Amino acid sequence: MCGIVAAVAQRNVVPILLEGLKRLEYRGYDSAGLAVSTDDKEIKSVRKAGKVNHLTEQVKEDNLIGTTGIAHTRWATHGQPTAENAHPHCSGGTIMVVHNGIIENHEVLRQKLINAGYTFSSQTDTEVIAHLIAYYQKENHPLSEVVKQAVTCLEGAYSIAVMDRLSPGKIIAARSGSPLVLGVGIEEYFIASDPLALLPVTHQFQFLEEGDLVEITTSQATIYDQQGKQVQRPVATDHFEFDSAEKGNFKHYMLKEIHEQPEAINNTLEGRITENRILPQSFGCDAEKLLKEIDTVQIVACGTSYHSAMIARYWFETFGIACQVEIASEFRYRNIVVPKRCLFVTLSQSGETADTLSALRLAKKLGYASTLTICNVHGSSLVRESAMVCMTRAGAEIGVASTKAFTTQLTALLMLATVTGRLNGTVDAKQESTIAQALHKLPGLVKSALTLKNSIQHLAADFSHKQHALFLGRGTMYPLALEGALKLKEISYIHAEAYAAGELKHGPLALIDVDMPVIVIAPKNALLEKLKSNIEEVSARGGQLYVFADRSANLTETNCMKVIHMDTVPDIITPMICSVPLQLLAYEVAVIKGTDIDQPRNLAKSVTVE
Ligand code: F6R
Repeated sequence: MCGIVAAVAQRNVVPILLEGLKRLEYRGYDSAGLAVSTDDKEIKSVRKAGKVNHLTEQVKEDNLIGTTGIAHTRWATHGQPTAENAHPHCSGGTIMVVHNGIIENHEVLRQKLINAGYTFSSQTDTEVIAHLIAYYQKENHPLSEVVKQAVTCLEGAYSIAVMDRLSPGKIIAARSGSPLVLGVGIEEYFIASDPLALLPVTHQFQFLEEGDLVEITTSQATIYDQQGKQVQRPVATDHFEFDSAEKGNFKHYMLKEIHEQPEAINNTLEGRITENRILPQSFGCDAEKLLKEIDTVQIVACGTSYHSAMIARYWFETFGIACQVEIASEFRYRNIVVPKRCLFVTLSQSGETADTLSALRLAKKLGYASTLTICNVHGSSLVRESAMVCMTRAGAEIGVASTKAFTTQLTALLMLATVTGRLNGTVDAKQESTIAQALHKLPGLVKSALTLKNSIQHLAADFSHKQHALFLGRGTMYPLALEGALKLKEISYIHAEAYAAGELKHGPLALIDVDMPVIVIAPKNALLEKLKSNIEEVSARGGQLYVFADRSANLTETNCMKVIHMDTVPDIITPMICSVPLQLLAYEVAVIKGTDIDQPRNLAKSVTVE
């Protein structure tokens, strides 16, 4: 999704803006632009379709320099990803605006502004904001008041940064529904969609809240809340020491993040489990009391996070707690009947996914017993708006395809299911101890699963010319199959489907032929024998099988079946371990196909619009 960077300083801010945009590339975008001004009331802008590198070349060519500037990566929603539609958008050669989100009433506003004599040069909803600000501008009126007046006309979700040629050295930013953070420097201030964009210039951040508007100059930052009252927002300094925006020796962020999983899971567990127990406080100070008061759980999430939710349902039910899971975009538009004593749980890497956030806000109105989020981004909207929080502590995930956020979410969910069961008397001390011990082993077992990389590399060549692939699993391996298929399709662009293996003969078996590779995840568990029958069904029809199997599963290679042997691990943690080969398979196939692995086409990291 779009990214904003803005800066006011006494030095040239162009390199800061460009570096910030590079660091926001992971969010997904298709064009970029920036505008800068100097004290002599000159304003210059550059906009380019395509990557930030193109913008950087043009900026160099035009020799752009300025002490105040706004910059943007755009993910097209209204109008093609062209230079004309890229931000900043301008009104009258003075007002410049960058914007994230969607203005839902832009057509009405556009007509009103056309009637008032304004001319539009783009198809975007954002240009409406620039003209609206110009429309309300009167002589000697402070820019902050004009912007405030303009944003009250906007319906939808937005975060914006605005500069005015006639108010040099000043930027106004505002948020409603899209994230924005203020970076505090020494006699310089910054604005960005994500702290990551600003790590080279500051480690001090103030997260803006819904409806906030901020004015920054080199001497101060002044924040106003929705009611226009001047307010302070807490300064966060920790959690940003580690700059994971660097790829290090890895070719792609995705590969780096796959390899970071043992450490990331370790961080998720740290201080939260003893040898035999999982601490309820891992989910917040009041968690022990709140979790005792619930009988059922409703989990809501999107994409990969939704797959974690599906896996967690098996765990909750194993521990005697009823659990429903739903995709956020469906949940928010259904007529919900709220069960009594039901905990509402959201899962999200970014904490800003628009549908998940709206589902949480709806749940709070509907009267769920309490809310809890499992999230990877400090200060994000889901974290701020949930009663209980468990940070996954995976570190910044830059690759668009989620990997370490997924396995750390699963780790936190297994802890949550166990604790909830214990507090409600359905999990006993022995069971909890077994799970705690499995969790202690988890980082090491994930590490040894990473050694499968070489054998998977060999396998990947078989997939690179295929058009389709089918993933099969049973029990928790069914949602994991869905996740494996999602990973393959998003980064290699191969059409991949996943089925619960028991569903094969109810339709998908018709697809099986030599051109349809079938990936099966076969840990040693109570469903293994049934899964073997499904494997037979595929091989009897000439399908080419790739089976990730437990060493002791007694599956041997044949002409039509390759077997990748995996270590025997405690059953309860197989979803985390088996994720690793599926991530590596998708990665290696994408490497052969030469796709843009960290920023696959049409996808965004943080989906802040519906
Ligand atoms: C896939 C992927 C997406 C996200 C989804 C939700 O690899 O990353 O499917 O899982 O967009 O995002 P979060 O978890 O940030 O709410």
